[in-house]
Amino acid sequence: MDPTGPWAALEPKLAATRKRVQELEWEPQRRNSFVPYTVDRDSAHADAGGQRCLMMSGYSYLGLGGDERVIDAARRALSVYGTGCHGVRALAGTIPLHEELEEEVARVANREAAMVFSSGYAANVGTVGGLVGPGDTVFIDKYDHASIVDGCRLSGATVSRFRHNDPAHLDRRLASSSTRGVRLVIVDSVYSMDGDIAPLPELRRVCDAHNALLMVDEAHALGVIGATGRGIEEHFDNAVPVDIKLGTLSKAIPSMGGWVAGHRDLIAHLRYAARPFLFSAALAPASAAAGLEALRILQREPERVTHIQRESERLRANLTTAGLRTGASSTAVIPLIIGSDEATYDYATACRREGVIGLPVVTPAVPNNLARLRVAVTAIHTKADIDTAAEAFRAAANTCPALAG
Ligand SMILES: Cc1ncc(COP(=O)(O)O)c(C=O)c1O
Repeated sequence: MDPTGPWAALEPKLAATRKRVQELEWEPQRRNSFVPYTVDRDSAHADAGGQRCLMMSGYSYLGLGGDERVIDAARRALSVYGTGCHGVRALAGTIPLHEELEEEVARVANREAAMVFSSGYAANVGTVGGLVGPGDTVFIDKYDHASIVDGCRLSGATVSRFRHNDPAHLDRRLASSSTRGVRLVIVDSVYSMDGDIAPLPELRRVCDAHNALLMVDEAHALGVIGATGRGIEEHFDNAVPVDIKLGTLSKAIPSMGGWVAGHRDLIAHLRYAARPFLFSAALAPASAAAGLEALRILQREPERVTHIQRESERLRANLTTAGLRTGASSTAVIPLIIGSDEATYDYATACRREGVIGLPVVTPAVPNNLARLRVAVTAIHTKADIDTAAEAFRAAANTCPALAG
């Protein structure tokens, strides 16, 4: 690229990215980002450039990514509807499958109505933007997902951040806010980098005291927490309702797409007010069908959820006994907190040598000196896989100066 003329002003940004990648991934064995994996359909293993590894950083919590029933449903949709939807939902893009899927999402979320977007990211940006704007205030947890943060920024509402999982701090933020418009509090049900759960009863009390709406992002909760995997309300024995529930079809549900569920009038409004819904093509037929089938399987096979919960507990106990730091995790997401970005890459490389993939998450995705491997347990991991992973994580720790001893 010619680093003169109009490109010159861009060059410092390009150089900073090159430097950042080079600092962490200076040789092929240290490559962790954008690695193409071919994941087995019926096991937790993956091929990474010729090396067969145990994948411990995937999101497919229910282990349905290669499920024949889900794949068949997608095939049938392809043969009936073709590959795309030829438009946005409000115009030519809606197919009967979208409506079936929305009814199923509403059933699983235990709400009157739901709507689906083409991704979880779009669901957050569209929902936040459809609910708040200038004159309103959104209160978000410091660790909320980037799609919530971006939705808030785009909405033009005032944004107030409170300390992670700290209802007392939220209380003070709400008390000092003079907004006369909508007050919307948004939290992740399960935090994707820490695996801890939002303190729903306390958050609900604070919201009620300040006349605020409470929205949760169930991306890492659906299929994972609650006795039958229905998410944060079920985790708290269905005793504490939220106002707006949102999630994705790309994690426990092994497809693409996002959803929001709530009161019928709320969804009727969002269908006209959520811009990524109105101005972006409808969810592809195969994705809608795969999502629908997986939601049905979730309801029929709660033993998948029990397996995830039992095996993540076992893995966490094993790793903490070995002296590894798993932070506040109490779910299938188990961070192995290492410290510096570079030491975390060293550790990920050592794990790969042991045949296990644990992918590093570094700054700015996590605070300074809290870089980690983000490990996740899924229903496709056998007990033997979990034991193998635990042993590999321990063995790798002994070879890393930042962790050994
Ligand atoms: C908490 C949370 N919300 C939303 C999303 C976005 O979902 P999607 O990948 O379907 O766009 C993610 C994805 O990582 C997430 O972790």
